[in-house]
Amino acid sequence: MVTRRVDLRSDTVTKPTETMRAAMAAAEVDDDVLGNDPTAFRLEKEMAAIAGKEAALFVPSGTMGNLISVLVHCDIRGSEVILGDNSHIHIYENGGIATIGGVHPRPVKNNPDGTMDIDSIVSAIRDPKGELVYPTTRLICLENTHGNTGGRVLSVEYTDKVGEIAKKHGLKLHIDGARIFNAAVALGVPVSRLVQAADSVSVCLSKGLGAPVGTVIVGSESFIKKARRLRKTLGGGMRQVGVLCAAAFVAVQENVGKLEADHKNAKFLADGLHKIKGLFVDVASVETNIIFIDIEEGSKMTAEKLCKNLEEHGIVVMKESSSRIRIVLHHQISYDDVKFTLSCFQNALNGVSVENGN
Ligand SMILES: Cc1ncc(COP(=O)(O)O)c(C=O)c1O
Repeated sequence: MVTRRVDLRSDTVTKPTETMRAAMAAAEVDDDVLGNDPTAFRLEKEMAAIAGKEAALFVPSGTMGNLISVLVHCDIRGSEVILGDNSHIHIYENGGIATIGGVHPRPVKNNPDGTMDIDSIVSAIRDPKGELVYPTTRLICLENTHGNTGGRVLSVEYTDKVGEIAKKHGLKLHIDGARIFNAAVALGVPVSRLVQAADSVSVCLSKGLGAPVGTVIVGSESFIKKARRLRKTLGGGMRQVGVLCAAAFVAVQENVGKLEADHKNAKFLADGLHKIKGLFVDVASVETNIIFIDIEEGSKMTAEKLCKNLEEHGIVVMKESSSRIRIVLHHQISYDDVKFTLSCFQNALNGVSVENGN
């Protein structure tokens, strides 16, 4: 019988802490659609300050944060956005920027480190002289950390460079910063410096920071004014939302400081997994809280089977492909859980059953 469960599917699986639950219960609230919820206002003010931007807006999810941001920047019909071909917006958001916003995506290849080559970005910008046939480039999107390449971190220098290009061509820069705090902690720089070049950032509070719900988008006063209207259009205006913002505020206060430990745990786990015969992990590429584990080519073990075996030991992970598994660390996974996970991987690969107790 499984007596212990370690849930490594994602950093979205955290449960609200007692402090968050207490803050939710005590939250002072009012109607936020009417612009009167003091707890939402306090969180938005804090997030704008952290990001070094004029204003902020709480939205239900990262997907809505990105959609609203792209739509605000691309509010003229025929707009095009340059974004990574392996980015969350391009792959996992139901193509909402196109289907809902009518914005044309111009994907550029993502490198294994999450960047897009600067030259490729520049050459993807449409020549305005070809306006008879081309859409109009209006926006560049980056993702930091970059999830699909394993939580890779984009540097300040790279972000500034893309910002420079955007400015030079009269474009806006949006950052999908679902895990921007992880990136800032890994780089040892304030979030405000890391996103200085961006016109808008979407920051998830319900990932590594552990809030139960919510994302905040940040930008200029005029950007947020338009974003507020679009949030209502999309059905994301919520009334006594302070109940959620109270928990998110605790997440920002208490959990940013825990991200470094998550990154250390991820590195330790990656290193241990790589040493297990039959598995491969590119340990050097583990920069934050995400690990990709590849099963050795030619092995009889499949990702599906390994996931099932692991689940029998109480370890829950996500299958990425037939030979790849993804693990994400968060503040509710301890060093002890990591050591337990390593021993379970070993057993699950060797087909040792839980009943044997070894
Ligand atoms: C990089 C990135 N951006 C955006 C999102 C979307 O966030 P949500 O699930 O809150 O819509 C995710 C979710 O995992 C993500 O990993």
